[in-house]
Amino acid sequence: MKLSICGKGGSGKSTVVALLAGEAAARGYRVLVVDSDVFP
Ligand SMILES: Nc1ncnc2c1ncn2[C@@H]1O[C@H](COP(=O)(O)OP(=O)(O)OP(=O)(O)O)[C@@H](O)[C@H]1O
Ligand SMILES: [Mg+2]
Repeated sequence: MKLSICGKGGSGKSTVVALLAGEAAARGYRVLVVDSDVFP
């Protein structure tokens, strides 16, 4: 499963992703988190 999260700066993307990743890992899924922010 692949999830892509996008939205306005500072809206909580990283916070939500960290929580989702932690929960998925706790449930036994192998998790890879990639931050694809591009410097403007
Ligand atoms: N350790 C912290 N203590 C207090 N506030 C925090 C902390 N970490 C993040 N925040 C605040 O929580 C909100 C969401 O932060 P978060 O980093 O999840 O957003 P983001 O969408 O990933 O931001 P960005 O687009 O800059 O990557 C922001 O207003 C941020 O300032
Ligand atoms: Mg972020």
